Amino acid sequence: MRVTGTGHASMRIDTAAGSILCDPWVNPAYFASWFPFPDNSQLDWEALGDVDYLYVSHLHRDHFDAAHLKRYVSKKATVLLPEFPTSEMEDEFRELGFTKFLKTRNEEVVELNGGLKIMIQALTSPTDGPIGDSSLWVEYDGVRLLNQNDARPTDLSTFAELGHVHAHMLQFSGAIWYPMVYELPQAAKTAFGKQKRERQFDRTWRYIDDLKADHVFPIAGPPCFLDDELWQFNDIFDDEGNIFPDQSVFLAEYAKVGGTNGIVLLPGSVSEITTSGATTTHPVPVEEFFANKVAHLEEMRERKRPIIEAEKASWRHPEVDVLKELKRRIEPLLDESIYLAKGVGGPVRFDLVGYDGESVESIVVDFPGKQVRPYADEKVRYRFRTERALVEHLLHIGEVDWVNSLFLSCRFSAARIGQYNEFVYAFFKCLSTERLQYAEGWYDEHERAVDAEDITIGDWTVQRRCPHLKADLSRFGIVEGDQLTCQLHGWRFDLPSGRCLTSVGHKIRAHRVGEETSVSETAQPS
Ligand code: FES
Repeated sequence: MRVTGTGHASMRIDTAAGSILCDPWVNPAYFASWFPFPDNSQLDWEALGDVDYLYVSHLHRDHFDAAHLKRYVSKKATVLLPEFPTSEMEDEFRELGFTKFLKTRNEEVVELNGGLKIMIQALTSPTDGPIGDSSLWVEYDGVRLLNQNDARPTDLSTFAELGHVHAHMLQFSGAIWYPMVYELPQAAKTAFGKQKRERQFDRTWRYIDDLKADHVFPIAGPPCFLDDELWQFNDIFDDEGNIFPDQSVFLAEYAKVGGTNGIVLLPGSVSEITTSGATTTHPVPVEEFFANKVAHLEEMRERKRPIIEAEKASWRHPEVDVLKELKRRIEPLLDESIYLAKGVGGPVRFDLVGYDGESVESIVVDFPGKQVRPYADEKVRYRFRTERALVEHLLHIGEVDWVNSLFLSCRFSAARIGQYNEFVYAFFKCLSTERLQYAEGWYDEHERAVDAEDITIGDWTVQRRCPHLKADLSRFGIVEGDQLTCQLHGWRFDLPSGRCLTSVGHKIRAHRVGEETSVSETAQPS
């Protein structure tokens, strides 16, 4: 099996029975904030796009690059579709001119022509990608590969059960706006960033240890930020709180925990993988490339500047009456929303900075009051400050997912009262009836699900499944004192009260070993 690195989370897999192109991303994403690094725009995409199969893990714009798919990927390719709850991905592919689809069933192995086997695991909670993320398992001639991408299954047993995996591709770096955009003192931001960076690596080590593949390929990031306004997010300033470590940092950190089987793919690197080893060639030496990272970034910044400027020029739509349009689009969704609106539990304020850079219009999405209205000098759960032009653009194009556009752009600042609230982001990625209904249904089922099984960790008996996304706490749970941390996403719980310390809701069932009554069940609701 041959794997060609094509940048970020993208790769082309070649076997004698067919080729699969995965997640090709070249054009900037999220309001021209993210670019692939190392640059992959110079690859021979005509040749790379001439494939038998196409797999896109999910609809985030650094994986699903519509313009690139339309221009470069053969429409004769069969699209391997994950079993997602909505038809959005298939609809988008059809719009681009693709007509051949293989609709996979979740976690079912499919044998394609010539003995090539694939299996796709689809994750479908409202917090997984834009309503769905997935991983691709491939087997040919005894060689097995898992392209886990940036998906976060609770464990990898489904793949491990299919036999020893030879190549494991997975995410190791950050892909979020936290904590950089928060209006916090620099020292606090650095401390939170450092924690996040460590957690990302811990999660990666855990997945690697789960699968024990022969070779580990760090993929799916980090992106680079070429706009002058975002340049500080690149990990080139020796900032231990930067959440975007690159592949060379991965190798160094992996070595510290004893990892010696890491392989970095640059765009154009080729790895020949067999059951007994991997031979990899690179277009330039990997160490040398990353030693010159700053120079590469600066060169890219100059080269891509016209692209960024052209995009910026397209965002302003002065004819859009933002308050009126937000009311028209969002109020019907607030009316439909039960779980998400209750989960947000308070008003969310948007401060929109005008073209002059000074005037500000403050608009509130009032979740309890189910309306969108001017800010009325009240306390809010979250406050976001961004350019009015960005919101005008979102309304102009009818964007249904503000996470997959505004929030991932990092072109905003944020402040909040209290804990992280996942419902805020879940709502703003569900600005269509179809998505909202799915998310509401999911939370409904999730809330009702009775997770009866308990386990013991140290002095505590706790429910086996994490109240967040059901990670098995016998593997991911760590108890220190009276606090439990679930290492999958780092959520923390106060065991005596059962209270989640990371987000509102999500209470855990727990009691000290030997105490018959659950303390958390008898505690007052918070
Ligand atoms: S499953 Fe996300 S923190 Fe436990």
